[in-house]
Amino acid sequence: MSTDPYIEARNKYVMKGVALYHPITIERGKNALLYDINGKEYIDFTSGIGVTTLGHANSELIEAAITQLKKLWHVCIMVMNYAPYVELAEKLAKIAPGSSEKQVLLQNSGSEAVENAIKIARQVTGRYYIVTYENSFHGRGTYGYALATTGKWKPYKVGFDPLLPGVEFIPYPYCYRCLFKQEYPQCGLTCLDYVKKWFTYTRVTPERIAAFIIEIVQGEGGFVVAPLDYVKELKKFLEENNILLIDDEVQAGWGRTGKLWAIEHCNVEPDIMVTAKAIANGLPLSAVIGKRDIMEKTYPGSFGGTYGGNPVSCAVALKVIEIMLRDKLPERAERLGQVIRKRLNEMREKYEIIGDVRGLGVMQAIELVKNRKTKEPATEETIKVIDKAREKGLLLLRAGLFLNVIRLHPPLTIEEEVLHRGLDILEESLREVVR
Ligand SMILES: Cc1ncc(COP(=O)(O)O)c(C=O)c1O
Repeated sequence: MSTDPYIEARNKYVMKGVALYHPITIERGKNALLYDINGKEYIDFTSGIGVTTLGHANSELIEAAITQLKKLWHVCIMVMNYAPYVELAEKLAKIAPGSSEKQVLLQNSGSEAVENAIKIARQVTGRYYIVTYENSFHGRGTYGYALATTGKWKPYKVGFDPLLPGVEFIPYPYCYRCLFKQEYPQCGLTCLDYVKKWFTYTRVTPERIAAFIIEIVQGEGGFVVAPLDYVKELKKFLEENNILLIDDEVQAGWGRTGKLWAIEHCNVEPDIMVTAKAIANGLPLSAVIGKRDIMEKTYPGSFGGTYGGNPVSCAVALKVIEIMLRDKLPERAERLGQVIRKRLNEMREKYEIIGDVRGLGVMQAIELVKNRKTKEPATEETIKVIDKAREKGLLLLRAGLFLNVIRLHPPLTIEEEVLHRGLDILEESLREVVR
């Protein structure tokens, strides 16, 4: 008999289309630790997919939420103004990458933020096409451009044809699996050359493109990091052609990469940026932050929604930002990232199955392969490592086109001792699977 009746109930009452990673029911958490309904403790290297960046049950965030809950839950920003929305908009405009003045739209989820970024790009440029990347992820919470621009078919798009038109895909600079069989940096960015000299002649000419949407670090794609000069060169090309750059920081933002925004590694200012996930540490909230001269051209009444920018979520987001800057969490992410990277590289020395170690800040991942030469994905072994780790008290996430990447998403507030304990479990699990 199951010791977890909620899993049985879930199988009975929750739609099958919502898949479950770990068959456990969590009751409570504290910082980087989670406890299931039987009291078993787990180290959380998932953070609810990169969301609870300040840890579970953070007391300062609880206080901020309670204070706002007692004052005001909802009035709707299209009906009346309220301070937390405006204060958060101002804060986001000021901390967004680049020196241009910004304006902000608040929504509830990453998918919604992506939809709205694309609506803005279309409305303001009057152009039709959106260029996106293979192996990207921009959301499955809606049936619009978040899904249409997502560069992986299974499972996200199964059975949903026809998707929205006007989307073109180009290869992501995934250097470990370069489609052009080149080595970075000797390649001289062949993949970008392809875009400039081939794609825009054969598929869609630049004057018809409203925007490119890119993740600086592909999240669901397996923590693939775009070479930083790729992003710089891409932006130059887009500017020459009056095409907007939409930077999707839903997963890579909020300090995870060692800087507040991932694109800051490239010294590039996006025209529009979308953020969600860690913005309110788990309360539903997302934002579209755009250059003022773009955002001011949007048509009044064509954007909004009943819930976007909930006052409690906004109050918590303001506290998240205060803590993030006060405690220098992006710098801490950089430091912890170096610790993780060193441990993962040591594991790579010992275990042939680790084909690649990559990432920025705490966003580090290992790609598992059956053979380092052929790079055949070790998909089944990846599941086995994750299952073993869970049995031993560590929760991990899978990712990647071939589901053979283990990505680490610890909170930025994780104690170093707990981080090492988690990495020890990861190593033990790897050792047991390959032996
Ligand atoms: C890069 C990126 N964009 C968009 C989304 C969609 O966000 P949400 O799940 O909040 O709709 C995600 C979610 O994982 C993401 O990683």
